[in-house]
Amino acid sequence: MTDRLRLGVNIDHVATVRNARGTAFPDPVRAALIAEAAGADGITAHLREDRRHISDRDIERLMEALTKPLNFEMAATEEMRAIALRHRPHAICVVPERREERTTEGGLDVARDEDRIAAFIAPLRDMGARVSLFIGADPRQIEASARVGAAVVEIHTGAYCDAHHDGHPDERDAELARIREAADLARSLGLEVHAGHGLTYETVEPIAAIPAMRELNIGHFLIGEAIMLGLAPAIAEMRRRMDVARGIA
Ligand code: PXP
Repeated sequence: MTDRLRLGVNIDHVATVRNARGTAFPDPVRAALIAEAAGADGITAHLREDRRHISDRDIERLMEALTKPLNFEMAATEEMRAIALRHRPHAICVVPERREERTTEGGLDVARDEDRIAAFIAPLRDMGARVSLFIGADPRQIEASARVGAAVVEIHTGAYCDAHHDGHPDERDAELARIREAADLARSLGLEVHAGHGLTYETVEPIAAIPAMRELNIGHFLIGEAIMLGLAPAIAEMRRRMDVARGIA
């Protein structure tokens, strides 16, 4: 298997850190440009209804600054659809959203809401966006996603990753098998297959090896790892400036 997977880098949590202090930094747009230069194939950003991380202005700035495609994650609301139609991002990933959740905890229930989701995504598709539905590894949801006219399904890998990191290998392997089967089914129905949520260095390989997979979207772990890898040079630069100020350097 030699075909290369696309990597979408989710920069939401750069904005989470920025917003914790109400400052202009760290800037998610700067992070997105670094991610592009480092080989990301696209940038993913989720404009949540409560604007807890990415802001409307961030989306405007990303649309102006990026040279790679923006994958705009959003809930299936009228407000978000109007924003998407205004900005015309390359890709749109529709996700479920609950205010009280810490992150996107489950997939969309496309099977229960087929007519509404079909009507919701039609104008986005007509605009030319690649529309993806974020769903669990469930054959009912895959089949419904094909029926409503989505181009892509993104399969939620959270349960697989949690089982691995919580030390439940049997559960992890069962989740992985479900994801593999769901990916095969989706491909057989003509859907492009993506996956994401909770992926880390330890969990990415079995997901990346699934033949039907085309793209992974990864954020939280990468931003955390970037802090660990970037802290030493950031401290060294602060030390240097302090020493210059004292005439030591
Ligand atoms: N894909 C989707 C649809 C998501 O909602 C998220 C989280 O915002 C991700 C991928 C990335 O997940 P993580 O930040 O855990 O890597």
